[in-house]
Amino acid sequence: MYTLGIDSSTQSIKALVYDTDANKVVVTVNVNFGKELPEYGCKDGFLPNADPLVKESNPLMWLSGLDLVLSKLQKAFDTSKIAAVGGDGQQHGSVYLKSDWQKALSEVSSGSDRSLAEIFSGVFSRERSPIWMDGSTSVECREIEAAIGGARKMQELTGSPAIERFTGPQIRRFAKLSPEKWENTETVHLVSSFLASVMSGASAPIDIGDGAGMNLLDLNTLDWHAGICAATAPKLHDRLPKVYRPNDKTPLSLAQYFAKYGLKPGIPVVPFTGDNPASLVGTGADKPGIAVISLGTSDVFFAAMDRFQVDPDGYGHVFGNPSGGCMSLACIKNGSLAREKVREMVGCDYRFFDETAFELVPFNDLKAFPYFESEITPLHPATGLDANFNWDTASDAEKVVAVIRAQITNMFERTRWIGSFDVIRVTGGASRSRGIRDTIATIFNAKVETLVVPDSAALGGAILAARALA
Ligand code: XUL
Repeated sequence: MYTLGIDSSTQSIKALVYDTDANKVVVTVNVNFGKELPEYGCKDGFLPNADPLVKESNPLMWLSGLDLVLSKLQKAFDTSKIAAVGGDGQQHGSVYLKSDWQKALSEVSSGSDRSLAEIFSGVFSRERSPIWMDGSTSVECREIEAAIGGARKMQELTGSPAIERFTGPQIRRFAKLSPEKWENTETVHLVSSFLASVMSGASAPIDIGDGAGMNLLDLNTLDWHAGICAATAPKLHDRLPKVYRPNDKTPLSLAQYFAKYGLKPGIPVVPFTGDNPASLVGTGADKPGIAVISLGTSDVFFAAMDRFQVDPDGYGHVFGNPSGGCMSLACIKNGSLAREKVREMVGCDYRFFDETAFELVPFNDLKAFPYFESEITPLHPATGLDANFNWDTASDAEKVVAVIRAQITNMFERTRWIGSFDVIRVTGGASRSRGIRDTIATIFNAKVETLVVPDSAALGGAILAARALA
């Protein structure tokens, strides 16, 4: 049997087919938003903005990406063999829909020759969707915390203090700045639940993995917290989709529209989750004991949790684990985009970056954290390069090694609250680098395992789809 996993991340969308009998991935196709859909103007997956704290994307780009990735999949695989669909999206990003979107869902349900971007154009009450890189809501975070009884109280309820990129504070800012548009919003979805809705032609529930990244889900009851919803924005509770919990039966099935890509309408669609909870499943770390480091646009450390405990410093998070229970997570924003900037600055290719630099500069104490984006773990405004490092006298190899070492040391220090692990599984593009893997092994004093499948989030989606069939 085959299942499909769709992963809509910051810079690309992937479709992966998983053979459940052989337990292996048979095909993966990918669309890079910046390169293949340049008409949306999102070079790195988000729109340029004069305010460095504002990071938004065009939700229609995600839909064009979905159409394109499925047309590529149809060329690479007999899609009629696919028995169920699962998936994930970049976490925290939100989509604001007018009641008109119901018509678009009906058109998808009954099948259409038009593209998804055509069908859904005009249904958004907010045309630009804020994404996880946005840091513009500090005022709203403090307002919500004050209404609820402080940061610690928010952590005890939702697993995190109020966090700038989380959906609740983003919704509050939108409702404050554009009250008419907020009034015109029928439903707020996450990237994940929006795409699952489009694929099924019905408003999809939000799973507890991605839902916990909203500062709205009570992790003790696994339901929206009415008091926090009220403190966030007027009528918010009524505008949220239902919550989907582990072991719930999926209410969704594939819409007729997708027959154009050879897929069978009516096969189960499992509510999508966040990219990190999906990776937890895809890396086989959804039971406590193994930690995962995902080196992508953001660098993320996460692990399944055996008891609900929060980060005393307030940087880390607790999310739902799609396999049941919770997961811990720390996210460092200056991940691959920062590595990429340093690579461009040094003017080297990937081989130098991944291997040669580490041969030229053996493990040493050089550290230079690159703040090309404002940092969240720990908080730091965007200033470019680390002033404590001498960029003028350092060799190219030293610059590369110093950046990697600083990124991994920062991650180590910020994840001590989660516990120590003998085994760390690494995934994401930069996990291919031996130098980076060795740095992780040394700093974390752990055995580092690489995965056969680099696309662990898409695989997690496909595995969750397979479980729904079983
Ligand atoms: C996690 C986070 C990022 C995004 C990236 O909290 O903000 O890892 O999920 O897609």
